[in-house]
Amino acid sequence: MKCSHQANSLVPTKNGFFCNAHGSSFTLEGKVKNPPATGNLKEYKLEITADTVNVMV
Ligand code: FES
Repeated sequence: MKCSHQANSLVPTKNGFFCNAHGSSFTLEGKVKNPPATGNLKEYKLEITADTVNVMV
């Protein structure tokens, strides 16, 4: 949930993610929609079981 521009925390919206530092926005899949960010959001693999979700870093 960190912006790829300068690592500000992102705000989730119904259409994706918004950075209120400089106005970048991202799709729900983490692709850049509006600059100044030029890189997509970092992706992590998940391991999901019946009762846990592990983020693989
Ligand atoms: S830190 Fe997000 S747009 Fe600059």
